[in-house]
Amino acid sequence: MNISDLRQEYMLAELLESQVDSDPMKQFSAWFDQAVETNEGAAFEPNAMTLATGDGDGRISARIVLLKELDERGLVFFSNYASHKARDLAVHPQAALVFYWPWLERQVRVEGVVERISRARSLEYFRSRPRASQLGALASRQSAPIPGREALEKEYAHFENLYADTSVPMPEDWGGYCLIPDRLEFWQGRRSRLHDRILYVRKPDGGWRIQRISP
Ligand SMILES: Cc1cc2nc3c(=O)[nH]c(=O)nc-3n(C[C@H](O)[C@H](O)[C@H](O)COP(=O)(O)O)c2cc1C
Repeated sequence: MNISDLRQEYMLAELLESQVDSDPMKQFSAWFDQAVETNEGAAFEPNAMTLATGDGDGRISARIVLLKELDERGLVFFSNYASHKARDLAVHPQAALVFYWPWLERQVRVEGVVERISRARSLEYFRSRPRASQLGALASRQSAPIPGREALEKEYAHFENLYADTSVPMPEDWGGYCLIPDRLEFWQGRRSRLHDRILYVRKPDGGWRIQRISP
């Protein structure tokens, strides 16, 4: 197989200036709802997004996290506050998110500042998680080296026993982050690589400048 022979024409839809919402969060919400509604067979998680962060030396790293809440301020995901990404965000709170919904031939890019959400709000979400995920969060010191798989399973079993008769407490170093966007791009694949790209940039007065950019 020759990788350079892999190619696809995008022809499902178009994205015009006249169609987009003046509020990018409403536009995002509309596209996100469509991604959820059209995700047949639930083969792909529409709320999966690539999160790119950088450290103080300008070294960038990226990984997938799940979008868990959406409000007028921004996009919320949950993670470990001592992880690699958390260390990056502590020194460099700017980050980028990318959603890819291939069955709609769409990509959304979001950039902005990331803040921790309140512990009360994190707790509310933690309580809604399945018990096994709660225990998993307790057992994992995310991004830290471990001697082997066994150590992780042992840690999980330890907490499973410890909290056998009670609710699982939320770890101190676990919680939510909200990315507050100042730039969002909606990308719709088109024929002949003439894709539609609509970019929103936050203005100093809080409004949004909307611009088509070249594919
Ligand atoms: C589909 C998918 C969903 C994931 N969701 C999350 C998530 O919501 N939060 C999280 O911390 N890690 C999630 N992960 C794991 C991350 O990709 C990553 O391995 C982890 O957060 C550690 O990253 P770090 O060492 O850069 O901090 C997910 C991975 C995949 C493939």
